[in-house]
Amino acid sequence: MLTSNEYTNKILQGDCIEVMKNLPDKSVDIIFADPPYNLQLKNELYRPNQTRVDGVFDEWDKFESMETYDIFTQAWLKECKRVLKDSGTIWVIGSYHNIFRVGAIMQNLGLWFLNDIIWVKTNPMPNFKGTRFNNAHETLIWASKNKNSSYTFHYKALKVFNDDLQMRSDWHIPICGGEERIKVNGQKAHSTQKPAELLYRVILSSSNPNDLILDPFNGSGTTAAVAKRLGRNYIGIEKESDYIKITEERLKKIIPLEKNLLEHPIQKPQTKVPFGNLIEKGFIKIGESLYSNNFQKTAKVLADASLTWGENVGSIHKISALMLNKPNNNGWKFWYVERENQKILIDDLRQDYIKKFINPNEQIQYQDEKVKKTIKINKALEMENYLKKIIEDAKNKQPELVENEVPTI
Ligand SMILES: C[S@@+](CC[C@H](N)C(=O)[O-])C[C@H]1O[C@@H](n2cnc3c(N)ncnc32)[C@H](O)[C@@H]1O
Repeated sequence: MLTSNEYTNKILQGDCIEVMKNLPDKSVDIIFADPPYNLQLKNELYRPNQTRVDGVFDEWDKFESMETYDIFTQAWLKECKRVLKDSGTIWVIGSYHNIFRVGAIMQNLGLWFLNDIIWVKTNPMPNFKGTRFNNAHETLIWASKNKNSSYTFHYKALKVFNDDLQMRSDWHIPICGGEERIKVNGQKAHSTQKPAELLYRVILSSSNPNDLILDPFNGSGTTAAVAKRLGRNYIGIEKESDYIKITEERLKKIIPLEKNLLEHPIQKPQTKVPFGNLIEKGFIKIGESLYSNNFQKTAKVLADASLTWGENVGSIHKISALMLNKPNNNGWKFWYVERENQKILIDDLRQDYIKKFINPNEQIQYQDEKVKKTIKINKALEMENYLKKIIEDAKNKQPELVENEVPTI
């Protein structure tokens, strides 16, 4: 078994099934796998102008039969599942040639599908023979380790990434080309180099800084390169030494982003506190009145935490919505209670409840804030009274005007 130092941030040479056997159980956070597609391209392909199409004719993509391909797929996926942490997820990319077989095997192994992403190639290679539709997409399957396992998904970060719109399952990304395409002696260094943009979304959405990301089919090292850039750790596994050399050269040029540029501000979900809890703890009394902001609308609190308003009975939300003639409304931000001649929003009472009973550790800080706030208010009141007094004094000091006497300026 390899130790963490021997596999973290390394590109390991060998057959991925064998190499993975040397990785400990539950050691990696996410896996991105771009396995051989089994394209079954036998003859070279030529364009109408007789130039050769730069397709995938590599030895690593050749399998004797569908059955051999399935046995291979089953073996590497089984190892992936073993080395994946319980909270981890696996991404597998493929085309119509293999993705359905791969998908079925994944499901048979108990991996739980979370999404299939369609990578829409904005600049696909044309169908030169004109005998089929232009094949313009590939499919990524994203799965968790088991049906009920928890996993990382930065929903909010991806929404921001997508101009505040929920990120969809169709990703429009060009195929790898131009400057990004690694070349050796003017030729593509790898026939299936994936665009970094694709890996950027995968890694950003489903992992955290410092996570360990495994790619069992490293190729030109796109996964490792993006992982390094995004402050993650990587393991690449690759059979061919030439591809390992290319990857290592590529990785040398990658400068990881600064840590402060990588953090997702973790948004704590609002603690759920039912209105009834406030009644149970005496923050709100049964039979007391709740008021709208301007005190014009009033409802009474019943023992079961519902409100009555005329003939209507319902939750704080429902009654406030009825009053506003809206389909729904947030009652926490609508209702006030009266305490010592002051109106207090029930949402503030809810925060008091949370601080006192749910997050008592935050209470000290909260109390501090409250004290500071009170001091500020008192200071403001003091200042107001002081100014009032000055004005009053000044008035008193003004010489009385005698009727009809016009002061000269
Ligand atoms: C589809 S390519 C991956 C391309 C990669 N995603 C990239 O962006 O460059 C598959 C790679 O897996 C390698 N490979 C194929 N079978 C393998 C195996 N059993 N173990 C390790 N590597 C293998 C091939 O040499 C090839 O480089």
